[in-house]
Formats: sequence, C-alpha cells, structure tokens
Amino acid sequence: MHGQGGQTMSDKPLPTDLELTALDPVFREHPHDRLDRLRSEDPVYNLDAAVGRLLLTRFEDMRAVLADRSLSKDPRKVPDTPRRLALMADMPQAFEPSMLHLDDPDHKRLRGLVSQAFNQRSVDAWRARIRAIAKALLDALADRGSFDVIGEYAAPLPITVIAEMLGVDPGDMRQFKRWSDAQAHIFNPARSPEETAELRAAGQGLNDYFTRAIDARRGRRGDDLISMLVAAEEAGDRLSAGEIIVTCNLLLIAGNLTTTDLIGNSVLALLRHSDQRAKLCVHPELMPNAVEEMLRYDPPVVQVHRFALEGREVAGRKVHAGQEMVCSLLAAGHDPARHSNPHGFDIERADTTHLAFGGGAHYCLGAPLARAEAQIAIAALFERFPRLQLDPQHAVEHKRVPVFNGLEALWVHAA
Ligand code: HEM
Repeated sequence: MHGQGGQTMSDKPLPTDLELTALDPVFREHPHDRLDRLRSEDPVYNLDAAVGRLLLTRFEDMRAVLADRSLSKDPRKVPDTPRRLALMADMPQAFEPSMLHLDDPDHKRLRGLVSQAFNQRSVDAWRARIRAIAKALLDALADRGSFDVIGEYAAPLPITVIAEMLGVDPGDMRQFKRWSDAQAHIFNPARSPEETAELRAAGQGLNDYFTRAIDARRGRRGDDLISMLVAAEEAGDRLSAGEIIVTCNLLLIAGNLTTTDLIGNSVLALLRHSDQRAKLCVHPELMPNAVEEMLRYDPPVVQVHRFALEGREVAGRKVHAGQEMVCSLLAAGHDPARHSNPHGFDIERADTTHLAFGGGAHYCLGAPLARAEAQIAIAALFERFPRLQLDPQHAVEHKRVPVFNGLEALWVHAA
C-alpha cells in the first residue's frame, strides 16, 4: 500500500514531487484529485527518497506535526543533501536565516522584537488606513470597463500597507513586487538560469535597499518598524545588523505575495459561486467567517515543512533523523475526516478550522493583518462594483510556482 518508489497496489503510479506542485499543468488547475488519492492511499508519502522528504495529507497528522516544538525549521541542523545545498548555493551570500528558518531561542528572540506590531490591537489601529488605501486604488479604477484585480488592487494594497509599517517609500512598490516575485523562485527546484539570476539579484537588491534604510534611521528615527529594530540593536545585543535586514526582508516578502493571493483567490471563489457572493452582499457580517472559509478552501501557502532531528513515529510511520516532513496545507483543508463536503465552498460553514497560517511556534505572525486586509479589500471591491463579473476574454491562470498558490492575473468586467 505504501508509495515507496511511487508505486501503490493499484497499477497507476502515485504522482511525483513535481506533479504535486503548480509547475504541473494538471495539478495547477485540479490539485485535489491527486491529493485526495494520496490521503486515502498513502497519507505519509515518500515524496523524494533520495533527499528524505515525506508529504503529509491528513489534517490531524499535520496539526500534530506543526504543533510539535521538538521538530526543527533550521535547514543547517540536518545533514546536507544535494537539494538543500543547491538551495543555499542560490543565496546571494552566506545563509542568514530569518525567524522562519530558526528554532528557539533565536526564533523567539527575533519574533519577540516585532510581535507587538502585528498583534490584534496594533492591526485594528491600521484598519482605517487600510480602508483608505483600498478606496484610493478603487477610485483609480472607477472609469475602467475591465481591469486585472491582481495587478491593480490585490497586489498594491498589501505592499503599500507593509511598506508604510516598515517606514519605506510605498512609491518603490513596483520594485518590491518584482523582488518579491523573483524571491518566490527560491522554492522552484526547476527554475531556469534566468530565474536563478533574478533570484540572486532580488536578494542583493533587497539587502542593499534595507541597508540604506537602516543607515538612514541611525541618525533620524521615526515611529516605524525599521526604527524600532534599529533602536533595539543599538540598545544592546538583542539583534545584529544582519538580523535586522533579514527580518525586514521577511516582513516585506511574507506580507505581500500571500495576502495578494488570498484576496485574488477569494474574489475568484466568490465570482464562481454567485449564491455565496449574493449571500455575502446581503449579510456583510459574514465576512470574517467567509475569509476563514477562503483560507481553508484555497490557501495562499500550500506547503510548510519541519525537520525531524531524531528518529520518531509520525502517523504510525517511522521517520528517520534528518527527514523533512512537508505538510500540504491545501490537502489539510480538504480532508473529509475533518470537514464535511470538503470541496464545497460555503461562507457559513460552521467549522472553518484550517492550517493556512501554519502552526505551533511559527504560526504566521501576520495572520491578524492578513485577515484585516482581506476582509476590508474584498468588501470594498464588491461594494464599489456590485456587478463585477469575470472577463471572458481572459482565461483564469494560476501562477507557476511551488509553495505559493495564487493567480497570475484576474481580469474582470466592472459593470
Ligand atoms: C493570507 C496571507 C498569509 C498567509 C496565508 C501566511 C502564511 C504563513 C505560513 C503558512 C507561515 C509558516 C507557518 C509555519 O511554518 O507553521 C507564515 C509565517 C510567517 N508569516 Fe505569514 N502569511 C500571510 C500573511 C502574512 C503577513 C501579512 C505577514 C506580515 C507582514 C506575515 C508574516 C509572517 C512571518 C514573519 C512568519 C514567520 C513566523 C515564524 O517563523 O515565527 N504573513 N505565514
């Protein structure tokens, strides 16, 4: 029954690593046929025996793995493998991990420095500003018959918000977007030499940009996040200059592509389910639940990982030290053992529990901000354009990158 080597007892081989990413044209548009099959035939699937990667597809297995603080996120702690070495070889300089790739105590130290800025109270204080940014973007679309929701609304909104929080110029938005898109290639094992060059250049560009921004704060502090980090560095040995840079990089990147994808995937789901959209228009108070349902149904981040530092059992299967457990967050939200009618989209679903923000010590720091941005952006878009429709002139196309799940563009008719 187990898929060692990709075979099952049925004749058809189980999908390969790449066939389980958006690089594959079938998976890109219809991921659940393959994920459902793995969940029922081989829920701890040997994705890549050479590197030691296992793919988990059951909700409860993943919830336990994500909550387990004895597992690691630091690739430097596991034996070097060709894939991990190749990944690091593409880094612009020596691998300087952000909190996302650190374990405690360093993880806790770096996260603690910025966590207050992203808690519910701080995010609530930004709501009025987020509404104003959404309004300005919609005003610019007022006379347009058709437009791309991603390029002209879902992308600029979160970039502007995080740029303002960090205290960098939102006017540099196009550059941020290019750097963010290029950085997403880091997860693409099949990237072209040009994409690798873009990835390196983006890493260098971001580092130089934030080095300048940090230097500028040394003489003149503001009330932004970079100033706060510089003050913490100067006050003692709580963080290094390199750590400020990787933290800024992480916040800028983590805070925009993902939220863009949540807004884009949500608008698409509502346009394709007119009954749900009509219900939301009549009952705007359903918006918070609707956003949770969207995170369950079509999550922007589809995979997170943890490394086993010692031998153990996961879901009844032996896992060796150094093996990587890849959690399919897309599969988690569609597990019939957790959700009834899992492939259905229901903004009134009573149990919207999902793993779209990961879990445990690394649970997404920006979750309250992402929720606020999505709730405000989706409501404002449909209020402004109540007759919004998909533009049939343009096919809906998903992005061709692993790990992230979003749309390349989403063309709509406003009237
Ligand atoms: C819908 C939008 C978003 C999604 C789906 C998302 C998803 C995730 C996921 C899956 C993780 C990894 C969790 C794990 O390994 O268990 C994560 C971590 C993180 N996210 Fe988000 N994120 C979103 C928006 C944001 C925003 C707006 C920010 C901040 C500006 C942000 C900042 C972070 C940070 C700093 C981490 C690292 C936390 C840690 O390692 O302790 N994210 N996010």
